[in-house]
Amino acid sequence: MQVVIFNGSPRRKKSNTKLLINSFLSGYKKVIDTKVPVYYIASLNKKEELLYAYKNAKTVIIFFPLYTDMMPGIVKEFFEDISKIKNSERKKIAFVVQSGFPEAYQSIFVEKYLEKLAKRLKLDYIGTIIKGGVEGIKLMPSWMTKELFTNFSSLGEYFAKNNEFDEEINSKLRKPYKMSKIKRNLFSIISKTGLTNFYWNGNLKRNKAYEKRHNHPYAQKWSH
Ligand SMILES: Cc1cc2nc3c(=O)[nH]c(=O)nc-3n(C[C@H](O)[C@H](O)[C@H](O)COP(=O)(O)O)c2cc1C
Repeated sequence: MQVVIFNGSPRRKKSNTKLLINSFLSGYKKVIDTKVPVYYIASLNKKEELLYAYKNAKTVIIFFPLYTDMMPGIVKEFFEDISKIKNSERKKIAFVVQSGFPEAYQSIFVEKYLEKLAKRLKLDYIGTIIKGGVEGIKLMPSWMTKELFTNFSSLGEYFAKNNEFDEEINSKLRKPYKMSKIKRNLFSIISKTGLTNFYWNGNLKRNKAYEKRHNHPYAQKWSH
């Protein structure tokens, strides 16, 4: 098996990650017309199959959403599982991290972690794509997502030709790196209206978790 993709979103087929993978593969297939297998890390009942696919791949690309400035727990567990695998030949690994907030800056810490992880697992690190502002793409009209999907398709095309990421597209996707001061101020004014939480609160209510939104179950209880 040449290239294998892993989708690290707990939302699996309903994920934004899936949409980005699809765009990436549409570009990839323009160059190499073979079916690239995509595995869902969240399919815990298929763990053996996932690890087998990882073991036999020459190049692995792991796409995942940023969860609280890091990777989702299932992705962390996957990293722990693959660290136990002995690779007979050197493997290449690449990552795509996408997040809800627009600033790419948030993901540079997990990027450092991923680079170190690849080194520790003795894998050839290809690089990490970072893209912010991805939440809501399923609801956006096509004119709003056209550029994003075109960029991911071009990324896939380039990857199929070179087995690496196009750095020009990578830096384009990393914008905004940080929001400008004007935008940050504007954002805090808008957030006072409750508009910025509207979507997230809707999700919390749908999942019957709105009342629990300030819970912090792992916090230490005060003891005197
Ligand atoms: C539990 C949780 C934690 C998240 N943490 C962050 C975060 O720290 N920063 C961020 O920008 N987005 C965060 N997000 C938003 C996701 O990264 C974003 O919605 C992403 O597009 C979801 O992708 P998916 O549909 O493929 O799972 C979080 C979402 C969830 C559900």
